[in-house]
Amino acid sequence: MKPLDPDAVTKGLRTRSFGRVLFHFSEIESTNDLLLRLAASDIAEGAVVLAESQTRGRGRQGRRWSTAAGKSLAFSVLLRPRLDPHRIPGITLAAAVAVARALELSGLKAGIKWPNDVLLKGRKVCGILTEMGPAKDNKASVVLGVGVNVNQTARDFPSWLRPLASSLALAGGRRLDRVVVLQRLLKELETTYGWVLEHRFDRVRKEWRKRSVTLGRRVKVVQGRRSFTGEACDIDPMGALLVRIKKGTILRVLSGDVKLVAKDKA
Ligand code: BTN
Repeated sequence: MKPLDPDAVTKGLRTRSFGRVLFHFSEIESTNDLLLRLAASDIAEGAVVLAESQTRGRGRQGRRWSTAAGKSLAFSVLLRPRLDPHRIPGITLAAAVAVARALELSGLKAGIKWPNDVLLKGRKVCGILTEMGPAKDNKASVVLGVGVNVNQTARDFPSWLRPLASSLALAGGRRLDRVVVLQRLLKELETTYGWVLEHRFDRVRKEWRKRSVTLGRRVKVVQGRRSFTGEACDIDPMGALLVRIKKGTILRVLSGDVKLVAKDKA
């Protein structure tokens, strides 16, 4: 598989800062890990670390994330948000909205599962891992890691994963140019991050709700050893998922795994 040409990415980029500094690796442990280390230096907001493959790609909840070389996108963006800490989780939801919007530009119809899994035809094609980095000059740093399955075929996924995961090519029926997908992703990520910085989280919420596959569904929330089921009824102004466990009792979910369950299995 041909590696991506980083010059081609920067040439057609329509962003202000995202991707203007771009580090490209053929193999790395984890783009998030490297950027978390670089965040202590003077490196500017919007810098991107991109890798063809990762040997220790990390997912949410301590899971692993595998990156098919030449067929997927694995990158992290450095953010230095001037935000009250309680607004930081909003970046995670804004990123999912951005990915969905970018995929829609390629004619794909994306759904979002709380907080930020992006799905096509009910299968996950993108995962997002947002992590706090070291503060620099009293400004927090956040590393936004994005993994997208772009051109994998069904055979690229282990059989147990096939009902759950997909790629843009599998869902859309055609291979896509990773350079174009990345440029669109960076543009949309910068746009929706801007909404969070400008305290326009209502816009993120509106766009998130429109694509949600979680709201209105019965869900099982797993937080370590604790779990409960209920109806996902909304997201609040901080991005927390609101789950009605019984009449008059709504729990706010800020972390954990949310599984969609069939009504009769609740
Ligand atoms: C998830 O569990 O859904 C989140 C997956 C996030 C994977 C991306 S790939 C680029 C970045 N580097 C990592 O190690 N993880 C994120």
